[in-house]
Amino acid sequence: MAKTNAFPTDFLTVDALTPAQLGAVLKTAARGKKDRRFGAKALAGKSIVMLFEKPSLRTRVSFEVGINRLGGHALFYDHAKERIGERESIHDYGRVLERYADGIVARVFSQGALEELAANCDAPVVNALSDTHHPCQALADVLTITEHLGSVKGKTVAYIGDGNNVTLSLAQAVVMLGGHMLEVAPEGFGLSAAEVAAISNLAAASRAGGSFTASSDVEAMSGADVVYTDTWVSMHHSSAEAARRLRTFKPYQIDGAMMARAGGAIFMHCLPAERGVEVTADVVDGAASVVFDQAENRMHAQNALLLHLFGEA
Ligand code: CP
Ligand code: NVA
Repeated sequence: MAKTNAFPTDFLTVDALTPAQLGAVLKTAARGKKDRRFGAKALAGKSIVMLFEKPSLRTRVSFEVGINRLGGHALFYDHAKERIGERESIHDYGRVLERYADGIVARVFSQGALEELAANCDAPVVNALSDTHHPCQALADVLTITEHLGSVKGKTVAYIGDGNNVTLSLAQAVVMLGGHMLEVAPEGFGLSAAEVAAISNLAAASRAGGSFTASSDVEAMSGADVVYTDTWVSMHHSSAEAARRLRTFKPYQIDGAMMARAGGAIFMHCLPAERGVEVTADVVDGAASVVFDQAENRMHAQNALLLHLFGEA
């Protein structure tokens, strides 16, 4: 079904937005970043529940501070000890939370649980990371690329390492804006065939000239404009899986030689980073690294998203 121009009620994946809506969010974010008072009272009287099943530094603090800057109130609901749906149904969660809150920001394991919550809650639901998507991160990432390289369109974003939640959301955002997403992952650790097909369809439907390519060969990253990596062991991976992953991914570590192979690229990482594992300290702390701009941009991008979700942009 064709998407309307109306802003979606929830933000669970990047492709919930049209490319034009994504562009509008980025414009609002750039405006908010320049002017600290922008949208200062937009969420006055609104309460946002932040329901987190997993740990967080950036997402939690950027949302809490950001919502405060917009005049709203953020209530942190620690759900680390129990998954939603265990004590009572997700349906009832949604129906109860909508009676108190004007919005829900949720960091969970299951994307399906998030979808069920959104389907049963009249207040907007924002995905603050699930096992398969990290759309708020991707908003900040494309904002950061735009700031440093002028645009995402026509740029090659080489993501090296584990094809995970960060990769999928980044790929969606990059192709929607006309960028070329290159995923370099060991065999069996890239995005699934279904995810790749959906990203390619999204690139075609977005008509911005974007593309998606996958490889297991690090040589493929030559000439990339952006080198991006993330942890090899995500929060949803078991400790039993960790040892195998650390062995398998070793040749994909981003070090000075890898950056030289790309030649003049900026380095990106959603953080937290493990220095000496997926990236060496000299790269993450080096001149080409923009990781702290990314971290800062979480707040500007999310505030822009909230302004659009609440019809205040
Ligand atoms: N990048 C990111 O989402 O960081 P946190 O896990 O600290 O929120
Ligand atoms: N892929 C990581 C991202 C953390 C921000 C995880 O899911 O743990």
